[in-house]
Amino acid sequence: MKTYSIALIPGDGIGKDVTAPAWQVLEKVSRHAGFELKSTTFPWSCEYYKETGAMMPADGIETLRAFDAILLGAVGWPAEVPDSVSLHGLLLPIRKAFVQYANIRPHRLLPGVEGPLKARGFDILCIRENTEGEYSGAGGRVHQGTIDEVAVETSIFTRAGVERILRFGFEQARARRGKLASVTKSNAQKYSMVFWDEITERLAGEYPDVAVSSYHIDAMAARMVMAPESLDVVVASNLFGDILTDLGAAIQGGLGFAASANINPDRSAPSMFEPVHGSAPDIAHLGIANPIAAIWSAAMMLDHLGEAGAAEVIMAAIAAATSAGIGTVPGKDRTETITAAVLAALD
Ligand code: IPM
Ligand code: MN
Repeated sequence: MKTYSIALIPGDGIGKDVTAPAWQVLEKVSRHAGFELKSTTFPWSCEYYKETGAMMPADGIETLRAFDAILLGAVGWPAEVPDSVSLHGLLLPIRKAFVQYANIRPHRLLPGVEGPLKARGFDILCIRENTEGEYSGAGGRVHQGTIDEVAVETSIFTRAGVERILRFGFEQARARRGKLASVTKSNAQKYSMVFWDEITERLAGEYPDVAVSSYHIDAMAARMVMAPESLDVVVASNLFGDILTDLGAAIQGGLGFAASANINPDRSAPSMFEPVHGSAPDIAHLGIANPIAAIWSAAMMLDHLGEAGAAEVIMAAIAAATSAGIGTVPGKDRTETITAAVLAALD
């Protein structure tokens, strides 16, 4: 029997509440589909930081490298550990070390979910650059605490980094409806964003079957609200993609539906799958977190592992639950109710 080894990192807050349901769904679907999933759970989190002084052990990355994939809940407990410490100690280093340069986030309405817009028929795939750009981590502060204090945080755009994410976007567009929207701000940022636009234009020549448009980030934000059905694949830099995908989550009915995959397309290291919602300390452990985003992310994991059929089964089960009105309105149903509905629909 085919076996996949999965590193489970529930992390903080509702990360814990939603990874358990996602794992239940994965186990059940794998039994039906005839493959095996073996999990190893790592307690790496802000709690772990308070005990050990680090978000993960020094050899954490090397430990994770042995797995076929990583399923992560959420990282962050700002009341006790600053987000700038916890995220730079766990989530962001994994994305970078494993060259998970493509962060894929689907935005569409699940059946039965109302959403805030009149538009209903949209199906957007946001692809966010995930290893460089505004998240390069390059920068510093001088003259701290004085009137002359300066803080610098430099965006880094490399030709290799921009080209590979754009190529990934073109390939995804080719496999979907053939439309690629590239997002920059080249009217204001005249080096990095003009560079990005130029590479987009050059690559467009290699993909004559893909219709390419370039948008500025501000215009794209408006378009995602006013005309989301006009969009297919949207590709953006790290920070722009971060912001646009929270907007994407909002138009799909809320963060409880927003799934994501941090993909290493070359498969030289494991990819990581996580809901977009974060640790949500205000509702942690109340039993009301929506597990759908995590379950959807788990389906994306199976798809990446080559189990597309099983991934589709999970998506159908989610759709069956939401079609029946379960999990469609934030806070209405308990985590266990939604999980039970998805599990039942797997039969
Ligand atoms: C996300 C999150 C992270 C990001 C934070 C928690 C660092 O907002 O995955 O969208 O900005 O990448
Ligand atoms: Mn975000």
